[in-house]
Amino acid sequence: MTRLTRADLDALPAYVAGRTVPGAIKLASNEVPYGPLPGVVDAVAASITGAHRYPDPGATALRAALSDRLGVDPDRIATGCGSVALTEHLFRTTCLPGDEAIYAWRSFEAYPIIAATSGATSVRVPNTGTHGHDLPAMAAAITDKTRLVIVCNPNNPTGTAVGKAELDAFLDAVPPTVLVALDEAYREFVTDPDVPDGIATYGDRPNVVVLRTLSKAWGLAGLRVGYLVGSPEVAAAVRKVVTPFSTSATAQAAALAALQASDEMQRRVDLITAERERVVSAVRKVYPDVPDTQSNFFWLPLGDAATDFAAKCEESGVIVRAFAGDGVRVTISSPGENDAFLDCV
Ligand SMILES: Cc1ncc(COP(=O)(O)O)c(C=O)c1O
Repeated sequence: MTRLTRADLDALPAYVAGRTVPGAIKLASNEVPYGPLPGVVDAVAASITGAHRYPDPGATALRAALSDRLGVDPDRIATGCGSVALTEHLFRTTCLPGDEAIYAWRSFEAYPIIAATSGATSVRVPNTGTHGHDLPAMAAAITDKTRLVIVCNPNNPTGTAVGKAELDAFLDAVPPTVLVALDEAYREFVTDPDVPDGIATYGDRPNVVVLRTLSKAWGLAGLRVGYLVGSPEVAAAVRKVVTPFSTSATAQAAALAALQASDEMQRRVDLITAERERVVSAVRKVYPDVPDTQSNFFWLPLGDAATDFAAKCEESGVIVRAFAGDGVRVTISSPGENDAFLDCV
């Protein structure tokens, strides 16, 4: 048969999304269980009346609102169809075929797929024995072909986070010609004061960009809004490669409404982080190796038992995310849903 698509894609794993099983409790996609924030549904309904018009391609109002919240100039912000799309755009902005991109492994499973499709060579640096980034090894892996290094903080799926001193030392070791992306999709769930806010702490470093999303704490996973904060030059380059109109008008309206409800967002995040303490301490009575987590999920390093454990949970109506041969990621949810998971442990 005549081949019409790239042969190298055959070897690429497909992105595995957390499964939705009707009637089951879904703890597989790091979503927040409380529904959209107040004001979001009305904003979405109002925006739909203009659905025959293209959205504002520059997301001007949304970037202005983010600028107010974050205290950075709007020209340092790019928005996209979720931060996963912005990660793709970042690869397109930095890497030509054959260039190297470094990231920890295990980390967010979209990175290898995005790297491969962009033609970049993935350099995966194994996590430490306690499931966190090995930043000295990541710095040592930089070569003259490296264009991009991703630090996922907190890390998906292990939940671990790197502290300020460690990150300072790493960033000092990275050459100014290499871009470092701090993927802070779960930033809002960080309670450890030692874990730096990348935008506030490293905003003056031209080779650092921060990726954030409204999918998690802000409850907009289904509407797809992410943003990137970097130097004006890097942000402008990313805005150039973003698929035109990819932050839809509805997504922009929803994001604006959600940002207005930041007190309620914080109240919900506080509920989740309190539950995180309760659930992780209960789970550790059976599995003491669960690493500290700064996210809305935790990691069960079960190795070869991961798939069977997830199947056992599913039999009890709880869907978790297994990474075969490695571990299981479990999202923290409402007390009742968390109790249903604890009954499976
Ligand atoms: C580490 C990390 N980065 C980025 C994303 C992408 O989020 P979204 O594309 O929904 O904004 C996720 C989602 O699971 C994630 O875990």
